Amino acid sequence: MKKSIHVFDTVHDLSLFFGQLIVSKMQDKGADQAFSIVLSGGSTPKAVFAYLASHFGEQIDWKNIQIFWGDERCVPPESEESNYKMAKESLLDAVGIPSESIFRIRGEATEPAEEAERYAELVRQKVPAPDGIPQFDLLMLGLGDDGHTASIFPGNLSLFESEELFVVAEHPQSKQKRISATGGLINQASTVVFLSTGEAKAEMVARILEDEEGSAALPAAHVQPQSGELLWLLDQGSAAHLAGRSV
Ligand code: 6PG
Repeated sequence: MKKSIHVFDTVHDLSLFFGQLIVSKMQDKGADQAFSIVLSGGSTPKAVFAYLASHFGEQIDWKNIQIFWGDERCVPPESEESNYKMAKESLLDAVGIPSESIFRIRGEATEPAEEAERYAELVRQKVPAPDGIPQFDLLMLGLGDDGHTASIFPGNLSLFESEELFVVAEHPQSKQKRISATGGLINQASTVVFLSTGEAKAEMVARILEDEEGSAALPAAHVQPQSGELLWLLDQGSAAHLAGRSV
């Protein structure tokens, strides 16, 4: 696995890098090839989406992009908590992605387990699986300050290791049900990008990136693409506790 850590002064700089990364990965794959991107929820991704909408409307060939989600809260798509709504309003409505290329997780489903299965099947149909597991081109992840990623929380590591592609998870405090990609699917992606901003996450970033004791219990520490590339995009705040940086 190729891993790199990038630290930016501002969220704008971070977003610019992310936008350029999409452009270059699409070029590498070949013009006119479908390119799959998996979105996450969270405040950092939201800021990045807004930047892409206003600065990369022309530079990215949106008509060849297919959009998927790595996790969704079990709420209707109109809910303020919906990851789909967040991405739709901050990015998708502003750029030219054909609606038939947007594959959302149905958070409103009355049986989340059935929806997890339906979505897994959809992903199997749409995404090539050269090694037997669907391989997304680019998968973005947020980092929780408790070490969760997608919607797999500490204490539920067995869900990360599930053989299924998507599972039903639960937020430990609110008990909100969520549908989440599992580790096998995440780690199969060609490029995985972790986004983290703000000093509140600095300790967690250092624990994971410096492999500190106890980090094995954190789902985010298990994001290690099989053959793909892993990039950590951080702002100064989130990078503040990494060795060699002032706290
Ligand atoms: C979600 C997520 C989750 C999120 C992190 C970071 O649906 O909540 O996909 O994994 O990305 O919790 O969120 P913040 O950027 O808001 O801290």
